[in-house]
Amino acid sequence: MKKMMALVLSVVLMASLLTACGSKTENNTTPTPANSNTGAEATKAPETATAKTVKVGITIYKFDDNFMTLYRQELERYFKEDLSNDEVKYEVTVVDGKNDQAEQTNQIQTFIADKYDVIIANLVQSSAASTVINMCKEANIPCIFINREPTAEDLDLWDKVAYVGADARQSGTMQGEIIYDLENHGDLNGDGKVSYVMVIGDPENVDAQYRTEYSIKALTDKGVAVEELVAQRGDWDQAKGQEIVASALTQYGDQIEVVFCNNDAMALGARQAIQAAGRTVGKDIYLVGVDALDEVVSYVKTGEITGTVLNDHVGQAHTAADVAAQVVKGEAIVKNYTVDYVKVTK
Ligand code: GAL
Repeated sequence: MKKMMALVLSVVLMASLLTACGSKTENNTTPTPANSNTGAEATKAPETATAKTVKVGITIYKFDDNFMTLYRQELERYFKEDLSNDEVKYEVTVVDGKNDQAEQTNQIQTFIADKYDVIIANLVQSSAASTVINMCKEANIPCIFINREPTAEDLDLWDKVAYVGADARQSGTMQGEIIYDLENHGDLNGDGKVSYVMVIGDPENVDAQYRTEYSIKALTDKGVAVEELVAQRGDWDQAKGQEIVASALTQYGDQIEVVFCNNDAMALGARQAIQAAGRTVGKDIYLVGVDALDEVVSYVKTGEITGTVLNDHVGQAHTAADVAAQVVKGEAIVKNYTVDYVKVTK
């Protein structure tokens, strides 16, 4: 009997330990929205009570970036309109990192000195994460990283930090699949290989690294032979995308079958260069981007761009804000929150 009891006890203990471990290593959890109406009537603050103010400091790597502009606008709107209520008012300050890490580190220091409740950081350089985390940890101000992923080691430095983003491997793979799904798998001239130009974002950024690698891997994994003609950094920028593709077209002309751009801004530039060179997307060249900016989606519909991949700034902004609200309330958070990409074709 005693033996039996001991066995039952140890099974129960094992099960509860496993559950505890499970929740610690949990990933991809969508947080409960901070304004979800879970509290009973009785726990509601009396109508006369003033709302608690939560100060949120947001720094964006640079304001002059199409995708991050949509992202920050949605972040601000969501905090103010959807998360703020009679009990909590989110006071949001958004600053421009101007693509300068020293400037951005100063901004974070100022948020800390001004006793902000939580910081949301889209780092200029992911490598600055450990410095930022140590600063925040010392002041006990939680920090949610967005868009540019710190290393797992950095995230392990403190339990009040997390990363909200999307898995860029997925977006790269989808770009490759969009090309593979074409009747000729991207081999327009039928020479048995896909000759391409790769317009890279910022090579320090994992989004750029993964999209560059996985877009091609999606083709080679399916047995498609490829030839890289040009691979150049365009810093996520439309004008640079245009320059790179214009000169590639001058150098390689009809040899170019596919132009892969790590984002849509550069794809918009590529489209201009392709038109200026008298080439026609869908007929004698293919072009893909990532982000699904409105303008690009409309070109996908008319066939002027072959396809793009939705980088869900709304989902990411909401998740980042929800996680920030949770950590301020003292609720446990996990290290990584990932929002899915979605393929966009005609
Ligand atoms: C990427 C996005 C790019 C650019 C970059 C900034 O996820 O696709 O357009 O905004 O983030 O880090």
